[in-house]
Amino acid sequence: MEDAFYITTPIYYVNASPHIGHAYTTIVADVLARYHRLHGFRTFFTTGTDEHGDKIAEAAQKAGVTPKEYADRISAQFRALWPELAVTNDYFIRTTDANHVDTVRRILQKVHDAGDIYFGQYEGFYCVGCERFYMEKELVDGKCPDHQTAPEYRKESNYFFRMGKYQKWLIDHIEENPDFIRPERYRNEALAFLREPLEDLCISRPKSRLTWGITLPFDNDYVTYVWFDALINYVTAVGYPDGENFRTFWPVAEHLIAKDILKPHGIYWSTMLKAAGIEPYRHLNVHGYWNVDQSKMSKSVGNVVKPLDLKDKYGLDPFRYFLMRDMVFGLDSSFSEEAFVQRINSDLANDLGNLVSRTMTMAVKYGNGKVPAPAAAAAAEDRLLRETAARTVTEVEACFAELGFHKALIAIWEFINVTNKYIVEREPWLLAKDPANRARLETILYNLLEVLRITAVLISPFMPGSAAKIQEQLGIADAAGQNFDTIREWGALPPGNELKRGESLFPRVEIRTEGAAPGAIKVSAPPIKPEIAYEEFEKVDLRAAKVLAAEMVPKSNKLIRLTVEIDGERQIVAGIGKDYKPAELVGKTIVVVANLKPAKLMGVESRGMLLATDTEEGLTVLGFDRPPKTGAKIR
Ligand code: MSP
Repeated sequence: MEDAFYITTPIYYVNASPHIGHAYTTIVADVLARYHRLHGFRTFFTTGTDEHGDKIAEAAQKAGVTPKEYADRISAQFRALWPELAVTNDYFIRTTDANHVDTVRRILQKVHDAGDIYFGQYEGFYCVGCERFYMEKELVDGKCPDHQTAPEYRKESNYFFRMGKYQKWLIDHIEENPDFIRPERYRNEALAFLREPLEDLCISRPKSRLTWGITLPFDNDYVTYVWFDALINYVTAVGYPDGENFRTFWPVAEHLIAKDILKPHGIYWSTMLKAAGIEPYRHLNVHGYWNVDQSKMSKSVGNVVKPLDLKDKYGLDPFRYFLMRDMVFGLDSSFSEEAFVQRINSDLANDLGNLVSRTMTMAVKYGNGKVPAPAAAAAAEDRLLRETAARTVTEVEACFAELGFHKALIAIWEFINVTNKYIVEREPWLLAKDPANRARLETILYNLLEVLRITAVLISPFMPGSAAKIQEQLGIADAAGQNFDTIREWGALPPGNELKRGESLFPRVEIRTEGAAPGAIKVSAPPIKPEIAYEEFEKVDLRAAKVLAAEMVPKSNKLIRLTVEIDGERQIVAGIGKDYKPAELVGKTIVVVANLKPAKLMGVESRGMLLATDTEEGLTVLGFDRPPKTGAKIR
């Protein structure tokens, strides 16, 4: 039987427009889907929108429209976004779709019939933002820890799902299947929840309070709790209970989420499936959070990053590359536009872009526009490229198996850089001067073009547009025939293919902060942090400090040890060795945070920190127009 792969993203709430966090999860899902297609898997990829519940009803009311109108509007934004980001989902589900409503009702009835849903009283603290009741001990200063708002006290008769009954089963299942929830830190987090007694889950809301939901099949006066409704989307999308897709794809279901919704997926959904007699999903894959310039993204701070803004400014493939390269799957990451631009200029324009343009220029110039034939017996020195190619393919596969996307990219970039070095060492432009070297030159050119063919397949899950452009330049008419099988073997590029030089794949981004030249891209300043009171600022003791001596810290190429005078002599260590020679600093009066807790950098104690900032040429240390007395307080 053909191998199958099923990947899902969370279905996103329709109370806010898509941002970089939604884009990241969906692009990871897309990278995985494309990767599996390149391995010949039958693949099904679904995403969508979560549209019921108080939160949406409230947002619609504020906007002065009905919940359905509101949901239609925002859901359409998500649906339209994905093709713009080259996301190749096979299905887009809305929880208001008729087939989903039927599936939810069918599963509720089944669990009810089995005796796992009962009617009872509930009272407690309810956070509308989270759509859930909180236990008192979970609140922080009486407020919801996520929303910092006071929850409402609610008392209701409701339906409950006997979740507690499945606690033991779930613990055993997680223990017997160590990668059921991965990476491990999230498995441990789920097991930690399960160390406390698992309470039953309230799964209804009375219509007297909320009508925007799916009516319970066994009581017309209630609608379904939004999480019980939303989670079921994952089986609706593949045609539960008897669609062919359900049989093919459900047994291999891979869910992709961020850490914020670990509990509903790890605990509620697993036990819901058990109660409904559906086998568990295969893996819950949990990633961290994108922050922006080290702060949490939030509407009120005004630092929400919109994916289309970045795509329009820097291009789609660079955006996808950056997201996948800069986040370690499972850990949090901080987005900064500067870091993004640096990646474009170094990894994309310099390393990959140059490799493609140099190779194509030489191949067209020295090889009359066609893929040359390599000499039958290639020189032993060329083995290096073949071996690196084979090793890279294996390494990329190993990285994907453990969701190490950034590591896969690092491995591909090592291959690119080995090849760039190969060009520099072989100096094809010198060989081209003497016709006696023809065969050797053609072999080298062939090798380089073959590296491009392999690289195109390796990068295509991440940067499908650029991969296709490389394939086009190589004259590979049937790019669809390129997959992981064709790159395991060296030498599949047919000699004689017509080459087509294309435009540069990744133009460099000019960094201009001031007086930007026309057409240059202005890098915006990082957003300002939330306001603080003057008293808070006053806690930082900034002083003018005269540098008396400076030297490199042994074995470090970055750290400089400075002796400065403030209230006497003291030693500080600064990571500015790539931008300053120690001697340049001696005699300067600089600004030092004098009351920072001492720290050790490479074993050398630092009692304070100097202030510096970035410029186009590197770091610059803060100084003065008119140097004050050493030790002067800076206000
Ligand atoms: N509707 C629920 C999910 C129901 S799934 C059955 C929901 N929606 S959400 O719109 O809030 O989306 C949460 C998800 O969006 C996260 O799990 C993650 O996939 C993505 N992200 C939202 N903000 C994010 C970051 N700042 N960083 C990374 N991903 C983030 O919860």
